[in-house]
Amino acid sequence: MKSFTFQTTRSVLCEVGATAKIGEIMAGQGCRKVAFVTDAMILELGLAEAALDGLRKAGVDVWIFSEVVADPPEAMILGAVERARAEGIDGVVSVGGGSSLDTAKLIAVLANSDQPLSAMYGVGLVEGGRLPLVLAPTTAGTGSEVTPISIVTTGASEKKGVVSPQLLPDWAILDAELTVGLPAAITAATGIDAMVHAIEAYTSKVKKNVVSDCLARQALELLGANIRTACHEPQDRDARGAMLLGSMLAGMAFANAPVAAVHALAYPLGGHFHVPHGLSNALVLPHVLDFNMSEAEALYAELAPLVFPELAGQPVARQANGFVDALKALGPALGMQTRLSEVGVSHNNLPMLAEDAMKQTRLLVNNPREMTYDAALEIYEAAL
Ligand SMILES: NC(=O)c1ccc[n+]([C@@H]2O[C@H](COP(=O)([O-])OP(=O)(O)OC[C@H]3O[C@@H](n4cnc5c(N)ncnc54)[C@H](O)[C@@H]3O)[C@@H](O)[C@H]2O)c1
Ligand SMILES: [Fe+2]
Repeated sequence: MKSFTFQTTRSVLCEVGATAKIGEIMAGQGCRKVAFVTDAMILELGLAEAALDGLRKAGVDVWIFSEVVADPPEAMILGAVERARAEGIDGVVSVGGGSSLDTAKLIAVLANSDQPLSAMYGVGLVEGGRLPLVLAPTTAGTGSEVTPISIVTTGASEKKGVVSPQLLPDWAILDAELTVGLPAAITAATGIDAMVHAIEAYTSKVKKNVVSDCLARQALELLGANIRTACHEPQDRDARGAMLLGSMLAGMAFANAPVAAVHALAYPLGGHFHVPHGLSNALVLPHVLDFNMSEAEALYAELAPLVFPELAGQPVARQANGFVDALKALGPALGMQTRLSEVGVSHNNLPMLAEDAMKQTRLLVNNPREMTYDAALEIYEAAL
């Protein structure tokens, strides 16, 4: 049997209203004052209230940092760390989207460390430990609550990852109620992000393994069956719960069998054009899958009936191509844009995007087919 390693968040609490228990959890870890990391929208919507009440009731002081912005810039994170140190925090909690969760993870690592953030980009480079850390996602997408990853925007536009086991939190808190008010556009984009995590984990070249496969399959089943309902009937609690669970399972899968060219080609779109992460994935997804088809056809065929039951029982090639075609149709059915030209990209931008995508070597090594600059350019051209 092929050898593999598998790591994930030690404890998961999946329960409606679970954020109210974060206070007890932090107090139980001996915390007296925690950084509460979120964004202004989450505070305004009242999504942080139950967690903040619970912390106060448990006698834990709170310093709120609510200045997280999407695709967290390095300077924002470093500013937060400086203030967290001055506040004397001894734990970190985050209720928010992937941007808040990723920021919280780095605050927990950097608050007590002399290692500069710039020395942490890459795989396994974080030295030392971190403060107690609890993460509660409000989007069903990134799976950040179970990944050892934080994605940071460095300089004007480049996205870099810190990937180290210290970034796995102590607890992931899944409270589907937090996602009920998520607008349709964000539900669609983050849901597609989660589906891409599962697809890329299942076809990941180097570290794909039997556990990540089980998780990716179950994730895709849940996400595929519920993404339309979650977008069109936002109050459907069962669909919301299934999406949140699916995104966590996909996160567990890709944390161990990493994502590949879809993400590598999506990141420059986020960096240069501020396209939301899930939408940038959706825009390049069908074209990257077409490119990978020669190497990944059998695997796409295995996934096809899980997401699109009507493809069950068909020949392999028809299932694999049907999978790509049905994914192509899913974006517009959810009201998403489908072409790069619709998000401000023009033909002149494509060489720059392809150059940047090729810098994502951490991801490209996992792609089932070798990616080249010329191939990346062709994929962007097809997606324009
Ligand atoms: N750590 C990882 O493993 C990992 C994986 C994939 C992506 N990412 C990163 O995560 C970030 C994207 O995170 P995201 O897609 O969750 O979005 P986000 O955190 O950037 O939030 C997007 C928007 O949604 C709003 N929002 C969030 N939850 C809401 C809710 N319940 N109701 C209403 N509005 C809500 C936010 O206020 C924000 O305006 C990117 O930086 C991406 O690179 C990280
Ligand atoms: Fe992603």
